[in-house]
Amino acid sequence: MHYIRFLKPPRLQRGGSASQLTAKITLTTDLGESFLWADIRLVVELVGVDGKTNLLAGGKEYLWKGSEGMRSLEVSLPIPISKGRGKAAGIHSVRMLVRPVSVIQAVDTSAAVLGAGDGGLMAVRSMAVDTNPPQNASTVPSASLAERVINIGKSQLHIWEETGESIARHIWDAGLVLSSYLTSISNPSSECPSLSEKLPKLPALQNALTQNDIHVLELGAGCGVVGITVSHAFPNISQIILTDLPEATEILSHNLSPSILKPLLSQTHAKITQQVLDWSSPLPPNIKDTKWQLVVVADCTYNPDVVPDLVNTLRRIAEGNRDLLVLLAMKVRHESEMVFFDLMEKGGFAVREKCILPLPVSGAEVGEEIEIYVFETGAGEQNEHGNVP
Ligand SMILES: C[S@@+](CC[C@H](N)C(=O)[O-])C[C@H]1O[C@@H](n2cnc3c(N)ncnc32)[C@H](O)[C@@H]1O
Repeated sequence: MHYIRFLKPPRLQRGGSASQLTAKITLTTDLGESFLWADIRLVVELVGVDGKTNLLAGGKEYLWKGSEGMRSLEVSLPIPISKGRGKAAGIHSVRMLVRPVSVIQAVDTSAAVLGAGDGGLMAVRSMAVDTNPPQNASTVPSASLAERVINIGKSQLHIWEETGESIARHIWDAGLVLSSYLTSISNPSSECPSLSEKLPKLPALQNALTQNDIHVLELGAGCGVVGITVSHAFPNISQIILTDLPEATEILSHNLSPSILKPLLSQTHAKITQQVLDWSSPLPPNIKDTKWQLVVVADCTYNPDVVPDLVNTLRRIAEGNRDLLVLLAMKVRHESEMVFFDLMEKGGFAVREKCILPLPVSGAEVGEEIEIYVFETGAGEQNEHGNVP
């Protein structure tokens, strides 16, 4: 699975009679550790602030020459110059959409994430760029956020992420696959019924998620893709808190803002909030005092150095709560991640159920998988502080 990313977000470059919107893109995996090495045709389009309305007839096509070792690609589009502000001025704010030409290659629905199509490439939309900035500005950078749009049934999930290299602030494969899986099991008939039938079942998870008045906590929520989807897919949930380190607060706030969530979550959906929860610190009092039914963790086990803190946090949440389930999604990147399972066992957790889902791939890419585990609390070794030895 690869993501189209802005290495350099779109900028307005003014010429005499015409202006250009230029950007530098790349096609990488979630970790950014490898580039797409297949050739793929891309189209760059000028869209309105809604991210949908195409402002130019067609777009401009480019060929990503992955087979020749391409690592980045400069793209540009001519844009109409607006002569003033207001309606009469014409287009004065534009966004750049970069997607595969072939819709079959696009991962733009939760069904496609779950491998219903032949695609393995996710499109990207830039922030809006002002086409009529002050005269003394020759180039106008847009802020460094980009948007991913995933169609889930009749709704659309809008997740903004940072365009830089931060770990916390962009979408990860395991989170994306877990979100799509949860969407599919929440309403099997509305998505892609034939796909839903084929998906492996996790009955204990499904049972927990369909109870009334359940409280869900997410650890290491990043941009919030999983928590937001859970909230949308299971309106019976009464409370959901997305947590992460302080560095994720800004992007989480952005993705949880009413203007972004309103079209997806109605008044009847759970109250979804965020707060800082660092696994190396004691639990915040409100988290400690709540009886959680489900803790969700996606793509948080890649760093063995922080895994003991993660497991100890799960232990503290589970104290005195024998009904707790922990839902974990991971893309196994290296052997050292297996320490998580040893520590979970020592911490008193047992795997209740498990499934493996393939990641969609582009071209001749080697297949990868996402593992989903449901842990329940059981007996285990702990030291006198309730920590895993
Ligand atoms: C790879 S990202 C996954 C983000 C998200 N769950 C997803 O799937 O898109 C791992 C997340 O764990 C968070 N994290 C790492 N160490 C942490 C700690 N000590 N306490 C809380 N969160 C932490 C990071 O900030 C980051 O958001």
